[in-house]
Amino acid sequence: MCGIVGYVGRERAICVIVEGLSKLEYRGYDSAGIALVGEDQQLKIFKKQGHLQALTDTLDFGVKANIGIGHTRWATHGAPSDENAHPHTDCHGHITVVHNGILENYVSLKQQLLEEGHIFSSETDTEVIAHLVEKYFTDDLVAAVRLALQEMKGSFSIVAMSNKNPDVLVAAKKDSPLIIGLGENENYIASDIPAILNRTKEVYILEDYDFAVVTKDQVKILDWRTQQPVEREKFQVTWDPITAEKSGYAHFMLKEIHEQPVALRETMRGCIRDGMVDLTDLGLDEVFQNIQKIYIVACGTAYHAGLVGRMAIEKLVRIPVEADIASEFRYRDVIWEPNSLMIIISQSGETADTMAALREAKRNNIKVLAITNVVGSAAAREADRVIYTHAGPEIAVASTKAYSTQLLVLYMLALDLARVRGVLEESELQRYSQELVQIDRLADIVLEQEQDVRNLAYHHQHVDSTFFLGRGFDYAVAMEGALKLKEISYIHAEAYAAGELKHGPLALIKQGVPVMVLMTQEDLLEKTLSNVKEVKARGGMIIAIYTENLAANVNESDYDERIVLPAVDPFIAPIIAVIPLQLFAYYMAVDRGLDVDKPRNLAKSVTVE
Ligand code: AGP
Repeated sequence: MCGIVGYVGRERAICVIVEGLSKLEYRGYDSAGIALVGEDQQLKIFKKQGHLQALTDTLDFGVKANIGIGHTRWATHGAPSDENAHPHTDCHGHITVVHNGILENYVSLKQQLLEEGHIFSSETDTEVIAHLVEKYFTDDLVAAVRLALQEMKGSFSIVAMSNKNPDVLVAAKKDSPLIIGLGENENYIASDIPAILNRTKEVYILEDYDFAVVTKDQVKILDWRTQQPVEREKFQVTWDPITAEKSGYAHFMLKEIHEQPVALRETMRGCIRDGMVDLTDLGLDEVFQNIQKIYIVACGTAYHAGLVGRMAIEKLVRIPVEADIASEFRYRDVIWEPNSLMIIISQSGETADTMAALREAKRNNIKVLAITNVVGSAAAREADRVIYTHAGPEIAVASTKAYSTQLLVLYMLALDLARVRGVLEESELQRYSQELVQIDRLADIVLEQEQDVRNLAYHHQHVDSTFFLGRGFDYAVAMEGALKLKEISYIHAEAYAAGELKHGPLALIKQGVPVMVLMTQEDLLEKTLSNVKEVKARGGMIIAIYTENLAANVNESDYDERIVLPAVDPFIAPIIAVIPLQLFAYYMAVDRGLDVDKPRNLAKSVTVE
């Protein structure tokens, strides 16, 4: 999730753009850059790895230019570096582009452009766009961008500029957000409202396939496929700047919970081939062929994702998988099996205990695959292979969209392992893959029940203790639900395997204690329902979370309150079953007036032991 700012008008572009980029900090950045067309009609590019300050320290704010584009990068292809920072240019330095999203077919396009003699200076997919525009450029930037778009596949919002057409910015939007801010003798382009809110409250919110030609006096919006003009309603922004950074949500956590469908879609992008999960590009086939054991190691929420991954891989691939908390694993004096693979999971890619486990594996010549959300992180750099979640920056301390996209990656790994080892019928691989392809739509449906969950939280906001129960996959998700609740509402919450209650914890059940029970696993439903009866008989309040396809087996007498999830294959149910638990924890913390995004005693990334 990168940040884009464009300006054309009467003011000094460098000032407007730097101000705009500074308002997009929540989009995360590992590098930043600015391109200007000066009064001398020359293209001037400034770009630097690191936070925005690293760039602004190098800028000459006296540069006279009334048109420019800027970018803060959240890397998806190519580690953070000066060279990989945007804006990117063509071979001759007449065209420059900034981009937010993922150009899915950049490898084939780059190959074709290299064969046509283009020279590249970065590892990014974005630079391919600059050279593709150049390929069609005959001093008409608008026409060249439009032709380039016909060849581009993936998610992208781009803004292009050329010193050959020094009064126009050309923008295009597909899947990644882009808006146009309207001014007097000046206009703005940005990824998000906060970037320009200090300058205008009147914006166009572009939609997919919108193609905008922006000068200081005019904004024309077309559909780039048909070249027909499209009507976009002017949107009057009423948010204050802080609210705008959260896209109107009260907290980053709620925004990130709602970003999960998009995050899932972006994470899956490019991983499905011929209707099946195919991670060949990962370069893991040879590793996958020979491994006899897998060690999954992580902390906190990432560890809870690993518990789901362990069950998924064992079920499909039939090789032994361990899932360990990193701080325990690193001191466990592990018995390393030959032909093993370690999978570490880490949103930040910097967690000290997880990185220690990675280094322990490397010392024992065990290959390591990292699942992380941050390109260029320590985990990405030190692992033998890396697969990214494309959740975008996760600002709230409580991890939500990182967890659900980690689950998606683990399911895709399980399916790809099964494919490579030929242990699953193609029809089954297709069936599971198609279930995963729908998961973002199912997440949207679950999010529509937000108000029901909010009411549930309001009803229980004064409790001082809760339980989360489940069996199998549901137990792993129950652990994540309990962590969410305790870390932001400070309520004591315990997750237990439902079958374990009678071995002690049942003594804690008394009148009115709320007990969340996850029931998405058809083969374990009957057993879990008998545990529910044990709890109800002792006064526990049952909050049942079950899937529609199991509804016929759940009676009203089995619960006091319920959240019904859309029908989904039990195998991948965890990806959506967690959403009500995230929302429950969020609203419990809100009702208790707590700092949801920055809970006490906690940090977003635990880089110390
Ligand atoms: C999750 O809500 C917590 N913030 C915490 O458990 C987190 O998942 C854990 O610290 C691991 O972080 P990582 O994924 O960045 O390694």
